[in-house]
Amino acid sequence: MIVTIDGVAASGKSSVASGVASALSIPYVSSGLLYRAATLLALEAGTSLSDAPALLSLLGAAPLRLEPLAGGNRIYLDTPDCPRELTADAHTSAVDAGVSALAQLPQLREWVNARLRALTPPFVAEGRDMGTAVFPQARAKFFLVASPRVRALRRVKERVGDVEAVEQALIARDEQDQLQSHPAADAQIIDTSDLDLAGVIAAVMAGLQE
Ligand code: C5P
Repeated sequence: MIVTIDGVAASGKSSVASGVASALSIPYVSSGLLYRAATLLALEAGTSLSDAPALLSLLGAAPLRLEPLAGGNRIYLDTPDCPRELTADAHTSAVDAGVSALAQLPQLREWVNARLRALTPPFVAEGRDMGTAVFPQARAKFFLVASPRVRALRRVKERVGDVEAVEQALIARDEQDQLQSHPAADAQIIDTSDLDLAGVIAAVMAGLQE
């Protein structure tokens, strides 16, 4: 069984996917973490975020490992001499600002999607295009939306920052991600603006019964 939870930036996808996965006793898979880790490695190596061949060659030599736990995903670089966890470094403002450029490259999307499709179900898959491009056969699909202001306020609670600036950055990332970020025709759309986390998880669990 695969359940997909897609949505706009900072709509609460990861927390909701984690809660739903825990309730179903299955893992959740964060596709964004793969895009983020790829972006982090490119920034560290000085590789252009729009040079697909150079990025693929960089990633081909990088033993990245995604750990899809129900409680939270982690990503590691399993270099034999110096293994390193990348999870925290993949969530900086620098990665936020660069990741959409890399994610727009079809070759990089294929690189991520191949990794996702190699995973063994059951799981909850979370991202932008899980229900449309990657797992169109999913048993149930959800798409989370919320106003930019609500999302900015939530993000500022997780990381320090100015609400106005965070809101503008989220709107910019929404625009850059627009191509790959839309609900599947058979997705249930949930507006999370006026719901707390438990309320969104309950809405998804109720939607699973339909
Ligand atoms: O979900 P998260 O904010 O961690 O995703 C980071 C970025 O990765 C998004 O802004 C988007 O550019 C890209 N992404 C994507 N498709 C996905 C998941 C993430 O393009 N399925």
